[in-house]
Parts: sequence; structure tokens; C-alpha cells
Amino acid sequence: MRKNVLITIDGPAASGKGKISSYISKKWKLKHLDSGILYRALAFRLLKNDINLESDNDIKKSLKFINKISFRKYKQLRNENISKAASKIAIYQSVRNFINKIQQNHVKENIKSNGFVVDGRDIGSKVFKNADLKLYIEVNEQNRAKRRYKQLIDTGEKSIYPKILKEIKLRDYKDRNRKYSPLVIPNDAFVINNNGSFSDTIEQINKLIKDL
Ligand code: DC
Repeated sequence: MRKNVLITIDGPAASGKGKISSYISKKWKLKHLDSGILYRALAFRLLKNDINLESDNDIKKSLKFINKISFRKYKQLRNENISKAASKIAIYQSVRNFINKIQQNHVKENIKSNGFVVDGRDIGSKVFKNADLKLYIEVNEQNRAKRRYKQLIDTGEKSIYPKILKEIKLRDYKDRNRKYSPLVIPNDAFVINNNGSFSDTIEQINKLIKDL
């Protein structure tokens, strides 16, 4: 693998992008940028400031006063309340432009020291169209719901499988049908099937990265 590569990983909710990105970043010594955490952190901040998440205008106004968003993966950002709020604000173009700029600047400022792996919903299709390698992670709804259910139980949250499945379907619908930057498979992406074991998935991906 050559130096300072940029790898993008897109895929639906609970497809394993986070786990895969984190593995790749360690194995290939790349920085990891989790774009979902930025949507979550912004949603948390807007909720804390009592901003009406149904109002594009109110959100737009409040974005003017936010000049920094933390990249830290606080546990509280993973709960279902924040998941819903993040999905709500992700439909607005103002929010997407705001977060895209943060991501692009962050990568531009830091890519000279290291390559990057960035994961999200529109990373290869919209935010980093010129990435060196684009991956799209595919997993069926049932497997994703099972994995998310286990994740929540493991972190001590109460969870009901049918409810999780319903929420995943709803989140998919929203992500795929929103007006701005819907979740799509980028034309030049490799589709990675992550229904099987983690090691099978990683084997497919490592082969692609080795050739960069
Ligand atoms: O990947 P995640 O579940 O942490 O993402 C949280 C929300 O942010 C999710 O509803 C979709 C949205 N998101 C997005 O629209 N675009 C991205 N690049 C990353 C996340």
C-alpha cells in the first residue's frame, strides 16, 4: 500500500462500518474518521440547546454559532434517542454542508502525516469523490438488527429485537430516500458482503488495500 491513501466506507445503519474501519485503521496505520459521530455530536448539541429539530431555519441559525464539533466517541452519543435525532438532522442540506466541510478540512490538514479511512453514508459518493478506494458494506436487515440488538444489550441498554428491526428499516428508508446525499452505492465502489464472519469480510478488504 502506498502512503497517505484515502479509503471511504459507506453502508447502511449497523452494517459494521465502524468495526471494519477501526480494524483497518489499526492494521494499516491509517487515521479513522467516523462521520456518523459528527452527526450524533451535532444532534446532541442541538437537543441540549433546545433547538427544534423539525425546523431547518432554526437549525441553520444555530449552526452559525457552532464553530467546533467534537470527534470524540462518547458512549452517550450511541443511544437510540441520539440515533433518531442524528437521522432527523441529516436530511438538511445546511447540516450536511456544515459537517462535510469539517470532514474535508480535517482530512486535508492531517492526511500528510497519515492516510485516512472515513466511514458514513455519503463519504465515497459525495464527500470524498476522489478517494483511492471506495467500499460499500452490505448486510441484510435481519443480521443488522441482530447485531445492533446484541450491541445495545452488551452496553447495558434495554432492547427489544422487533423494535430494533423496525427502527433499522425506518432509518434505511430515511437514509435512502432523503433529498440531499441519500445513501447510494458509489459507482466506483467495491461492494463488500458482510453477512458472514468478520474474518471473511476483512479478508476481502485486505486484498483490495494491499493492491493500493
Ligand atoms: O453511522 P451512524 O449510525 O453513527 O450515523 C448516525 C446518523 O448520521 C445516521 O442516521 C445517518 C447520519 N449520517 C449521514 O447522514 N451521513 C454520514 N456520512 C454519516 C452519518
